[in-house]
Amino acid sequence: MKTQYILIDRKQIDEEAIEKAGAIIRNGGLVAFPTETVYGLGGDGLNADASGKIYAAKGRPSDNPLIIHIAEMSALSRIASYIPDAAYTLANRFWPGPLTMIFKKTDEVPRETTGGLDTVAVRMPSDEVARAFIKAAGGYVAAPSANLSGRPSPTSGAHVLEDMDGRIEMILDGGSSQIGLESTIVDLTSDVPMVLRPGFVSIEMVREALGEAEYDPAIMSGLNSNQAPKAPGMKYKHYAPKGDLTIVSGEKQAVVDYIKAEINKHSSDTRIGVIASDETYCEYNATVVTAIGSMTDEEAVARHLYGVLRDFDTQNIDLIYSEEFRIGQLGQAIMNRLMKAAGHQVIEVK
Ligand code: TXA
Ligand code: MG
Repeated sequence: MKTQYILIDRKQIDEEAIEKAGAIIRNGGLVAFPTETVYGLGGDGLNADASGKIYAAKGRPSDNPLIIHIAEMSALSRIASYIPDAAYTLANRFWPGPLTMIFKKTDEVPRETTGGLDTVAVRMPSDEVARAFIKAAGGYVAAPSANLSGRPSPTSGAHVLEDMDGRIEMILDGGSSQIGLESTIVDLTSDVPMVLRPGFVSIEMVREALGEAEYDPAIMSGLNSNQAPKAPGMKYKHYAPKGDLTIVSGEKQAVVDYIKAEINKHSSDTRIGVIASDETYCEYNATVVTAIGSMTDEEAVARHLYGVLRDFDTQNIDLIYSEEFRIGQLGQAIMNRLMKAAGHQVIEVK
């Protein structure tokens, strides 16, 4: 299949291109599109065959449910059989935006879209290109992140092209993703609202809105946990770079000293990468040293993370050391992704 690649100018969104993209979805095809979190791989969420094609294009296990993207609040009742008050509260604050909510589904949503579950995940993105595209597509776009299964989520059109060229009908390139990490997922079907995946909307923000919220205990605890995460996708080793990634945790200078000593231990044949902060990157002398952002700018770190992991793959790095970025409210989301990329390989230094 030939993949059409279309650059979208955000100052003047090309309606004809959006309409073409929408028609592909209405006819059962696939289009990757930008959102403020990461790029999505879209198909018609109410069409079982389209969902099947999404799994095939990603090489993703079909028990891993998809998020349905909507553009208007009025679209929700067709796919959610019960909408609790808490959902209206969260929607008022965070929609459109980087929040996904889980509801009991209606019969209109095929089980192929929900990985066999009787619940459905729904998000209303704020990205203007995404919203225009969803409307043109008929209002219900099922979309996982537009990466091949096991690769970091794409945060630019070029990342999508790397993974999806020849596998889907069209890519809409709307530039770099503003946030760079996937949406926060909140399950509203449990007694207490439960955060299944941390994201830009922090658990503190959800608690402030609803009075209560808990983390799914399985998500932060790591590999030795025997609990199955409630979001099926969280059980897979995602976001993994090819190189062996280790996170070094501890007091700042001790972390820098440890990573420098590790670099010195290896011969120059070993291709070593370091994920450092703007403040520390000049300390290191390795094959590739990346300044991911300032320790005082959690949003920059989040925005750059997946692109940095992809660059290490491009440069065939064997070993990667990362500093720890437990910073601000986004620290939970950043470290959740970094820990998964590292297969929970962490070294504590003093
Ligand atoms: O920011 C995002 O959410 C991006 C953009 C494209 O919207 N999408 C995204 O989709 O990250 P994906 O498929 O890569 O991740 C969806 C996660 C998976 O971990 C999946 O298991 C979980 O949501 N999920 C989907 N439906 C669910 C459901 N009914 N119950 C529990 N978890 C669900
Ligand atoms: Mg994903």
